Amino acid sequence: MQRRILLTGANGRMGTEMMRRLNSSSWSVTPTTRQTMDICNFEDVDQQISESDPSLVLHLAAYTNVSKSETEKNICWQTNVIGTRHVMRAAQKKSIPVVYVSTDYVFDGKQGLYKEDDCPNPTGFYAISKLVAEEAAMSVDKARIIRTSFIGSEWNFKAAYVDKFTSADYIDVIGKELMIYLNNIDQIDEKILHVATQRKSIYDLVIVRHKNIERGFQNSNLSSQPIDFSLDTSQWESVKLRLNDFEKIEGS
Ligand SMILES: NC(=O)c1ccc[n+]([C@@H]2O[C@H](COP(=O)([O-])OP(=O)(O)OC[C@H]3O[C@@H](n4cnc5c(N)ncnc54)[C@H](OP(=O)(O)O)[C@@H]3O)[C@@H](O)[C@H]2O)c1
Repeated sequence: MQRRILLTGANGRMGTEMMRRLNSSSWSVTPTTRQTMDICNFEDVDQQISESDPSLVLHLAAYTNVSKSETEKNICWQTNVIGTRHVMRAAQKKSIPVVYVSTDYVFDGKQGLYKEDDCPNPTGFYAISKLVAEEAAMSVDKARIIRTSFIGSEWNFKAAYVDKFTSADYIDVIGKELMIYLNNIDQIDEKILHVATQRKSIYDLVIVRHKNIERGFQNSNLSSQPIDFSLDTSQWESVKLRLNDFEKIEGS
């Protein structure tokens, strides 16, 4: 039987990337956007999920403006927390699994290589809202949480930090990892997984696609800034090793 996936936030950055991949895969896809399903409106969400009756929901829709969230707390909360509760509640009514995409920002960036069960310590409102939304997913049996981080292929700066660390990767690289996750979800039991790539400096990430980038330094003038948001991805690496032939069914 063909598997059916409903996406929230299908017009966003990762939504667009996942639509491109899912459309050329064996999944039947129902994309939803703010126009077709406002996650802040439970009736909207309930009706759309119930009518399209997917076998899986990929919940990407969010308020994602990290700096503006400090002054737009209400809309950020409504979208990320209340919206996620709506998606969880509607899916739970029909026993549909949901994959909720969360962020490395639930950690404070002081330590790096965070494991799935390390204590979160979000430092801004966006990150707080994503962490509270994780709790909405934690309380639903069939919901899962992926923590990740990604950048687009563009880099509009002269330099990139050599002293700031991440396990983020380019959106297409993370998109491919998400496809592996979705294609094999029936064989993945972990409630929370860090789906990203190995720890590296921002400079080492950017130089892969921007050969002339200069080395930038953060510590010298901003010593109080967090410097290491990297996620420990060893559980995800073990899951991939465990999966049979994941390359073959990745479907990218
Ligand atoms: N970017 C990162 O590095 C990163 C890292 C970790 C986790 N994440 C998470 O990954 C997910 C996707 O991120 P992204 O960067 O692709 O985000 P994005 O480009 O900002 O896309 C978010 C989408 O959510 C939609 N949306 C906002 N409010 C909505 C509402 N009330 N109802 C329905 N849709 C709504 C937006 O629609 P409009 O365009 O109409 O506003 C937009 O299409 C998010 O959950 C984000 O928190 C991102």
